[in-house]
Amino acid sequence: MTSKRNILITGGAGFIGSHVVRRFVTKYPDYRIINLDALTYAGNLENLRDIENAPNYGFVKADICDGEAVANVFKEFAIDGVIHLAAESHVDRSITDPLAFVRTNVFGTVTLLNVAKEAWKGAMEGKRFYHVSTDEVYGSLHDDSLFLETTPYDPQSPYSASKASSDHFVRAYGNTYKLPFVVSNCSNNYGSHHFPEKLIPLMINNIRNNKPLPVYGKGENVRDWLWVEDHAAAIDTIFHNGVNGETYNIGGHNEWKNIDLVHLLCSIMDRKLGRAEGESAKLITYVTDRAGHDLRYAIDAGKIERELGWKPSIRFEEGLERTVDWYLANTEWLDHVTSGTYQQYYNEHYAQR
Ligand code: NAD
Ligand code: TYD
Repeated sequence: MTSKRNILITGGAGFIGSHVVRRFVTKYPDYRIINLDALTYAGNLENLRDIENAPNYGFVKADICDGEAVANVFKEFAIDGVIHLAAESHVDRSITDPLAFVRTNVFGTVTLLNVAKEAWKGAMEGKRFYHVSTDEVYGSLHDDSLFLETTPYDPQSPYSASKASSDHFVRAYGNTYKLPFVVSNCSNNYGSHHFPEKLIPLMINNIRNNKPLPVYGKGENVRDWLWVEDHAAAIDTIFHNGVNGETYNIGGHNEWKNIDLVHLLCSIMDRKLGRAEGESAKLITYVTDRAGHDLRYAIDAGKIERELGWKPSIRFEEGLERTVDWYLANTEWLDHVTSGTYQQYYNEHYAQR
């Protein structure tokens, strides 16, 4: 399917969004890709330097809560598909400032839905609103079960509650206004261009700088990690071949306890930095647990594999090596994002721990 399309990608300057934008711009030269992003602390146009001059790419700095600005983009570029990633995405920040999450994740998503509904009124055929969501909407697992698409929503943090709410609004617009939509709920991503407030890039950056490695609680919480480029590939597959009104879970079949993951990262970094084995692990510091910390997330990604033929492409150990290599080769990127606003946040957040 390579007919001309005008696709709006929101949050394209962020971690996952930049991988999705790069994939669509390079793989589909006939598509026009418009990246709309407010450039919050998490948005970084340096992520897209390699494709920023591509003829089929355009960037618009705007807030998804600004209905007029979004409507102008729909009109100017005749948008016929949306891949919506813009969000506040960090659980710890949602604990400090829940309203920022309600604003962008709920109000912003509904604003975008409204604009799409109006722009596509009477001509829904061939249109698609793709909402990118998280497995965290299903809550916290305390046994060995897996999240299915049918698992009842049970969000436990302000972040996951705001994402769950946005998922519900997308489905409500599908039901009420017949807006053609798909939703996907993905597990934790890792890879290049990941803002170093999240576990993996934060640990890599701190190991590099010989700073303490803050492990929350006992480090026994479990996450299912997926390489970000595999998520971008899944989004591509679902955008093109997913069935309207359906939800697809995306995951890596790759569960790790935080403490085991941090030890693995330490040993990879020891090797890459020429340190003695066990040197970096001495930096591990147990700190106060996150409030309401979800114990375990784990995805059953059987539906997308059976119905759309997608599955993860690389093993975690290989993806993690590649990720570490990227950060070590891009220390300038790391240094840029760890200065300024982020540094201020970092100091405030960890001073209390
Ligand atoms: P991110 O925080 O790295 O990037 C978010 C982007 O959205 C930034 O570029 C930011 O500037 C932009 N943005 C924020 N508020 C905005 C607003 N009001 N208007 C316009 N742009 C705004 O996030 P990410 O990790 O790349 O996550 C992207 C999406 O994927 C989110 O919807 C998130 O919930 C979902 N998700 C993330 C993960 C993960 O592991 N990171 C896993 C599953 C799902
Ligand atoms: P994070 O990357 O924030 O993703 P999420 O909370 O959305 O899963 O955190 C991943 C796990 O790592 C989570 O269990 C919290 C834990 N964690 C730490 O132990 N230390 C840290 O400094 C951070 C940021 C996270």
